[in-house]
Amino acid sequence: MKKPPALLSTDVIQARVAELGAAITRDHQDSDELVVVPILKGSFLFAADLIRHIDLDLSVEFLGLRSYGAGTESSGVVQITYDLTQPITGRDVLVVEDIVDTGLSMRYLMENLATRQPRSVKLCSLLHKPARSRVKIAIDYLGFTIEDRFVVGYGLDYAEKYRNLPYIGVLEA
Ligand code: IMP
Ligand code: MG
Repeated sequence: MKKPPALLSTDVIQARVAELGAAITRDHQDSDELVVVPILKGSFLFAADLIRHIDLDLSVEFLGLRSYGAGTESSGVVQITYDLTQPITGRDVLVVEDIVDTGLSMRYLMENLATRQPRSVKLCSLLHKPARSRVKIAIDYLGFTIEDRFVVGYGLDYAEKYRNLPYIGVLEA
């Protein structure tokens, strides 16, 4: 595998993930049982590390999203490819996403989850690319703001490759 140059090293990512977990723990002391919803596929590694820094009773419910688009562009047409297996009515939900780019996927998802009447929904995203934002998304817990570059690794892919890279790198054209 050709190794993309690093943007965020494993150590930098791990330190930030620990801080995010601590903040989430602090903010959810009154939660009965938090439902953590990792968005597949991109956030599976991030979520696996993050929940080990959340010191609360929690459950994990995966949700798969696919945003149609050619190459590295999101179209805004979003499909749920795998849905929650438990109702979230009256519960505190934490959505865990890899990256908010145009924001179209998270807008679709947040509107969808709201119809299921949870007690609260918060969003934790590892990355945010504000340069490409098309809709404003409130990110309650954000790992890193990045420039407008296509990034891969630590769960993020390009054409399904590079998810196993232990750091976040920049895909060079
Ligand atoms: P959206 O444009 O905010 O809807 O982004 C939707 C999805 O596109 C994200 O959850 C990622 O899966 C993917 N995506 C956006 N930017 C990148 C990137 O730089 N690298 C890898 N995936 C990306
Ligand atoms: Mg994604």
